Amino acid sequence: MKRVTVTSALPYANGPVHIGHLAGVYIPADIYVRYLRMKGVDVMFIGGSDEHGVPITIRARKEGCTPQDVVDRFHNMIKDGFKEFGISFDVYGRTTSATHHKFAADFFRKLYDDGKLTEESSKQYYDEEAKTFLADRYIVGECPHCHNEGAYGDQCEKCGTSLDPSELINPHSTISGSKPVLKETKNWYLPLGDYQEWLRKWILEGHKEWRSNVYGQCKSWLDLDLQPRAMTRDLDWGIPVPVEGAEGKVLYVWFDAPIGYISNTIDLCREQHDKWGDWETWWKDPETRIVHFIGKDNIVFHCIIFPSMLKAEGSFVLPDNVPANEFLNLEGDKISTSRDWAVWMNDYLRDFPGKQDVLRYVLTANAPETKDNDFTWKDFQNRNNNELVAVYGNFVNRALVLTQKYYEGVVPAAGTLTEADKQALDDMVAAEKEMDRLLDTFHFRDAQKEAMNIARIGNKYLADMEPWKLVKTDPERVKTIMYVALQITANLSIAMQPFLPFSTEHLRQMLRVTDAWKWADLGRTDLVTTGHQIGEVSLLFSKLEDADIQPQIDRLENKRKALAEAAAAEELKNFKPQTVKAEIQYDAFDKIDLRVGTVTACVKVPKADKLLQFTIDDGMGSRTIVSGIAQWYPEPEKLVGTQVCFVANLAPRKLKGIESQGMLLSTQDADGSICLVRPGTNVHNGVSIS
Ligand code: 2FM
Ligand code: ZN
Repeated sequence: MKRVTVTSALPYANGPVHIGHLAGVYIPADIYVRYLRMKGVDVMFIGGSDEHGVPITIRARKEGCTPQDVVDRFHNMIKDGFKEFGISFDVYGRTTSATHHKFAADFFRKLYDDGKLTEESSKQYYDEEAKTFLADRYIVGECPHCHNEGAYGDQCEKCGTSLDPSELINPHSTISGSKPVLKETKNWYLPLGDYQEWLRKWILEGHKEWRSNVYGQCKSWLDLDLQPRAMTRDLDWGIPVPVEGAEGKVLYVWFDAPIGYISNTIDLCREQHDKWGDWETWWKDPETRIVHFIGKDNIVFHCIIFPSMLKAEGSFVLPDNVPANEFLNLEGDKISTSRDWAVWMNDYLRDFPGKQDVLRYVLTANAPETKDNDFTWKDFQNRNNNELVAVYGNFVNRALVLTQKYYEGVVPAAGTLTEADKQALDDMVAAEKEMDRLLDTFHFRDAQKEAMNIARIGNKYLADMEPWKLVKTDPERVKTIMYVALQITANLSIAMQPFLPFSTEHLRQMLRVTDAWKWADLGRTDLVTTGHQIGEVSLLFSKLEDADIQPQIDRLENKRKALAEAAAAEELKNFKPQTVKAEIQYDAFDKIDLRVGTVTACVKVPKADKLLQFTIDDGMGSRTIVSGIAQWYPEPEKLVGTQVCFVANLAPRKLKGIESQGMLLSTQDADGSICLVRPGTNVHNGVSIS
């Protein structure tokens, strides 16, 4: 393999990037690329903005601006944020570029000319008020699988199923809110079924090494009959379909977006041809390995549709691996751009200046590589304080500060190594070997753990050797100990480099090392040589206090409350009465004895969060009723003196050891809130209700 082309999913330029994107795609891709570069592999790291698609036009409509305004704003914001965060793209392009428009249109045209696309007329939803077809997210309705009423025409975000607009129950237009009609239109389709057998062989037989989540998703697609997929849309934002009779139609965003990886390569190779050579080398030479970093919602597009497009075109290399991650949640809830439930990259950079590596570290330590994972600010603080500060930072600081103190910063000469010295260095080398294996197989989380292990080995070594005590009795031996500790420190600056580029730079400055060490230098025990003068020492990481993260926790708590209130209001708005129960005869109703009584006492039932114990004057005496409505009456004593309605002849039942003699009548509103039913005016206790 001569070179590696690494792509990372092009984020939609319709909103900022959040920690879910960083953990799922950009940090792992960046770690991999930095690792390959350090190994001396020829690698190109491609990123860019995905600037077409319906969500962008919806946002523009909402804001009263053009889609171009939207993508200009977010493209620049995302690009700058990535740069500041240390995502080391070689190129960061955009799909509205002239190069991309031409290349994607030519690609489509070639498939068209080669007869690889089929032309089909079908009935699509059309908004008669807005006079437009309703592609993808322009249409919402009820999901046929989970009955979420806000499912989009292309996907239900609640249950994750990908949908066709025709599957939605009660569809309506997101532009005008009107009920759409079906109207005949023509589109061009990629007959995915033609590639099914080939895909089965290529993936299911040829790529058993792919991550099980990726392989599994591909298998479930390939176990069904693949249907032709429309590669064009009736929209006015996108790349015009380069075929006669296709006026008013653009390329499907998932047709043009992955081609964006190639267009961005073309621009880079044109601008820096001396460095990168011809773009074709990066996409067509069989000696090139292509790796796509994506999130799990992009698997079908990168493993089934894009490869089928490349196969249809005929001259491209196919991806060698697609290490897709699962999703990251935030404080127990799904991250959502539309609900603003996220930690945004640009906000983080503003709120935690200079702490890029802390977030990089925490997101890798919690990377959703095999299952969905959760990010919490408490965990962020703990990992910073207990791992970066207490383990890595502490070791490095002790090694460097003692070198300054004992030898004025000059690396001492080592004497003969003892068994303990050799053991520490052997343990370090073992951790480094393991890192190689883990990084080569996309296990970034465990690889970072091994890097941290090297710091633990160093910490333990210093704690066992106690040079600060020994220096008084055996200063010669201490020279060897410090020499060993400095070699471990230098090794750490190599092992940590793919993960924590900013603090690595800081550590290298403290070591006063200017030559770039390579990955192959790992394990060397002469990285800093006797007589070398190290630089000034300062802390690699600093402790995060509760006060540093509290504003973030507060923001999310407030957001959580606001979202719950909005959801409850939405429930109320959408309230539909339940269907009426099966008919009964008057006799059945007449058997129920409903009465009014007055509450004479009301207390919480001990050790039962939900229960209240009522004592009720029912006109004939006193009765006890236990009711599960404590949540709605936090001050139960205030109910004393009010009249309530109850079922008087219900068989008694024991609840938490208390005999309940009846049942209180209450309403439950659409948001779940419960309210006792009371007579409209004061009546005698014991009167019946009919
Ligand atoms: O899911 C997304 O955010 C898409 N914009 C990813 C596109 S990846 C590639 F195809 F460009
Ligand atoms: Zn659903």
